[in-house]
Amino acid sequence: MTFKSVTDAYRLSNGVEIPCVGFGTWQTPEGEVAVSSVKTALAAGYRHIDTAAIYGNEESVGRAIRESGIPRKDIFLTTKLWNEDHGYDSTLRAFEASSRRLGTDYFDLYLIHWPNPVRFRANWQEVNAGTWKAFEELYNAKKARAIGVSNFHQRHIEALLKTAGIAPQVNQIRLCPGDTQDAVVEYCRSKNILLEAYSPLGVGKLLGAPEMQVFAEKYRRSVAQICIRWSLQRGYLPLPKSVNPGRIRENTQVFDFELSPGDVETIAGFTGIGGMDRNPDEADF
Ligand code: A2P
Repeated sequence: MTFKSVTDAYRLSNGVEIPCVGFGTWQTPEGEVAVSSVKTALAAGYRHIDTAAIYGNEESVGRAIRESGIPRKDIFLTTKLWNEDHGYDSTLRAFEASSRRLGTDYFDLYLIHWPNPVRFRANWQEVNAGTWKAFEELYNAKKARAIGVSNFHQRHIEALLKTAGIAPQVNQIRLCPGDTQDAVVEYCRSKNILLEAYSPLGVGKLLGAPEMQVFAEKYRRSVAQICIRWSLQRGYLPLPKSVNPGRIRENTQVFDFELSPGDVETIAGFTGIGGMDRNPDEADF
């Protein structure tokens, strides 16, 4: 790993560059908090913002981007299609709605948020094929520079690939110390699908974990910085969320130290200390 700052980039399978740390906004409330935290993140150097229709904060994210004064083309913006909008026609409508809320006519990355919403669980393969057809059209029309999925396991991606003309470039899943989802990670790597790590701090759970404290002391960094650095050294793209200016900045300062390979391994093995991913087939939404 040779990244020197949050703007250094991974390269997706289609050649698009994606800044190696993204600013997460799940649970960031719409309104002043979202506007000010995204502006703080941009001022702190982030050029990659991750939101979703279901987060309810797209309008604020869009406003923060405009008010930052940073050209739109210099910011990598991701949003996601929510469960009720699966299917070809609904996807195109949902894209327009997100686009309007964000105040931009293209996304850098558009993701299917969940593979198999309850509403479509009886025929999710067929519905995802229609959704993906719409994603491919958006991609071909340059309304999405990259397209991908989130919370997909191997079987969901394999089903998609049966009818896809374009393979997903990203899979965004829950990845943090102790939750490494080895099977889906290995599969995605074999298909050249970049893994984005949501909840890289275990939604904050890892911050108080005594196992992680040992490494914070050893490397003289915060637990959050250890988690983000670990994520990068594992080859994931972490998306830490914060609404606190000091912590937003702290989470960018992960390029002046390196975890030993043995420590990366040990941290990976703390199974469950930051919570675990759920089986998407059993989610009740
Ligand atoms: P806050 O937004 O008040 O900073 P994750 O990215 O895994 O979802 O974790 C997000 C949680 O971790 C939030 O509760 C966030 O709180 C907290 N958090 C983010 N960065 C830090 C940090 N550097 N130190 C302590 N807590 C943090």
